[in-house]
Amino acid sequence: MTDAPISAQLFDRAQRVIPGGVNSPVRAFKAVGGTPRFMVRGQGAYLTDADGRTYVDLVSSWGPMVLGHAHPAVVEAVREAAVTGLSFGAPTLGEVELAEELINRVNAVGSGGALEQVRLVNSGTEATMSAIRLARGVTGRHKVVKFAGCYHGHVDALLAAAGSGVVTFAQPDTDGVTGAQTAETIVLPYNDLAAVEAAFAAGGADIACIITEAAAGNMGAVAPDPGFNAGLREITARHGALLISDEVMTGFRVSAAGWYGLDPVEADLFTFGKVMSGGLPAAAFGGKASIMSHLAPSGSVYQAGTLSGNPVAVASGLATLRNCTPDVYAKLDAAADQIGKLASAALSDAGVVHRVQHAGSLFSIFFTDEPVRDFAGAQRAQNANPLIYKAFFHAMLDAGVYLPPSAFEAWFVSAAHDANVIDRIAEALPLAATAAAQAANNPS
Ligand SMILES: Cc1ncc(COP(=O)(O)O)c(C=O)c1O
Repeated sequence: MTDAPISAQLFDRAQRVIPGGVNSPVRAFKAVGGTPRFMVRGQGAYLTDADGRTYVDLVSSWGPMVLGHAHPAVVEAVREAAVTGLSFGAPTLGEVELAEELINRVNAVGSGGALEQVRLVNSGTEATMSAIRLARGVTGRHKVVKFAGCYHGHVDALLAAAGSGVVTFAQPDTDGVTGAQTAETIVLPYNDLAAVEAAFAAGGADIACIITEAAAGNMGAVAPDPGFNAGLREITARHGALLISDEVMTGFRVSAAGWYGLDPVEADLFTFGKVMSGGLPAAAFGGKASIMSHLAPSGSVYQAGTLSGNPVAVASGLATLRNCTPDVYAKLDAAADQIGKLASAALSDAGVVHRVQHAGSLFSIFFTDEPVRDFAGAQRAQNANPLIYKAFFHAMLDAGVYLPPSAFEAWFVSAAHDANVIDRIAEALPLAATAAAQAANNPS
């Protein structure tokens, strides 16, 4: 018998049978230290761990749980779908309805028509990987431009770091990815249109597409500068390349039509995930029919999936989106604004230099006074003193608030983050700000 916390016991056990004890690296708390909490229950804005402690959840499963955990309409839709059949490997009505829901939301923006067809897949990674394959198939070109600090899932070619010069080929950013796989990838600084122009001037005829997070959330929240996405649109159009707007994180979260609803730059292809699945594995990519029709079986670009369009995942996504009313988006915006202001006030009171950055209702804190516009800026802020976020995170966790266990992640609210929930966060903040101040003053 041991009296170690149950989460610690489970983590020991997990590490024997699962590499690092987790099924996705950030969950292991490596960036903040300590033991990951094993969760047993989610309800509204709260998570409960295996030791019976409850936390206000500001991770929201990294985005999907936009209505809060175990929303009754979503749970009921999933239950109904499950009893009807878990998977058929044949078309279902729900897939058509989910495709229509995504299309209607996106096409409600501007003069409409940006999204005519979508293909459902199982993860954001599959969505971006397939969108890139499609862009290459449609253009007959091979190179891909991505931005440092933007994450698009664990696609081999995108696990790449910038080469030595702006237009040189990227290097693998992880073992297991080969130089050949990243040789067709060009990694540029985010929010730097001059670098994009230079890359296209050097070899635009070979570039199939640019893929960009519609607003960056994977280096902390870093919104595109005004005109950045529009600039990407103009440059790609001028050079006959496609623009892929990755809305896996922002899609149907920052507005009814995702980032596109806030910054209506029409991409050739959009990728979606997270919110559109309501927490089950479903994602999508889509665009104009003239592009999407290149996909098999109507076209010659192969793409497939045994569980794609899974009826239970589709039911969860549809129920989630149908309950994402204008009121829900107003609540997300208000909660993000309020929590950001409370955190900022507590940190200011404790004398901690910081900035709260928003990208719609995504937000995060950087411990710097410099605006963070790209990955280099995010790294500068974090590397100046990695202990500050660590101290802040653990003090919040001890006080019952579950923040992302990495400074490079956005914070996600849900419609269940009401005044009571925000009060609990407000109560936790002063001690956490003091802990951050201590770490800031003792950088060793
Ligand atoms: C912008 C973006 N694209 C793609 C992905 C990959 O999605 P998934 O983890 O479902 O493969 C993520 C995941 O966080 C993401 O944030």
